[in-house]
Amino acid sequence: MHEIRKPGDRVFVALDMQDVERAASLALRLQGHVGGVKVGKELFMAGGPAAVGRIAALGMPVFLDLKWHDIPNTVASAVRAALPLKPAFVNIHAAGGGSMIRAAAQAALEGGEDRPRLLAVTVLTSLSQEDLADTGVPGAVEDQVVRLARLAQANGADGVVCSAHEIAALRAACGGQFTLMVPGIRPAWAIPGDQKRVMTPAEAVAAGADYLVIGRPITGAENPVAAARRVEDELAAG
Ligand code: C5P
Repeated sequence: MHEIRKPGDRVFVALDMQDVERAASLALRLQGHVGGVKVGKELFMAGGPAAVGRIAALGMPVFLDLKWHDIPNTVASAVRAALPLKPAFVNIHAAGGGSMIRAAAQAALEGGEDRPRLLAVTVLTSLSQEDLADTGVPGAVEDQVVRLARLAQANGADGVVCSAHEIAALRAACGGQFTLMVPGIRPAWAIPGDQKRVMTPAEAVAAGADYLVIGRPITGAENPVAAARRVEDELAAG
């Protein structure tokens, strides 16, 4: 279980790049200032499980963000195949349904004491209400987010990945023990880029986030270590 011992431990840095060497050296430099790193589809496609192993070997907790969505047997097998890499977190799409979530949760349990925590993605924040309606889901985005988070929780997921703006509704629906991992974070001094509905690290934690996913404000900074320390200080002050 990834524990939060100091404020910086809440931060998972998104290593969204294809250069495995650069990702590993960045992870090494950031060690001690952040809680872990997120390996998503880009780095995974470029470097495969070996890239994850390389970073995990540094002793850094890894959030393996591959958002599995398939039939229960296939998703459970993917979770099982990930166990030797000892990721701190893995994730699935809650829209895969209750049996799929349950199969993934059971497979994660096979990891024993340091099993990966299972997070669910509810509604991608890139989807508008209209996009959601086009997929056959009427109603408000937030209702669907809460519906899928409840489904995930009822079937053994440890938490969800969510927007900072969904934290209040999810805490009310799923309680204080359900892990909320929150991307779309921008320190006040960082450029928002393509992220639109952002919150600062301290705001998101005050709102109830457990973990923050931060990418470019740290990885794209002239001095990534200084940027990570600035986030650390901000969280400590908040
Ligand atoms: O660079 P930035 O801080 O925007 O990176 C955020 C990371 O979180 C990226 O890896 C992105 O794919 C992911 N993410 C996101 N918004 C979501 C879900 C995931 O930005 N709603």
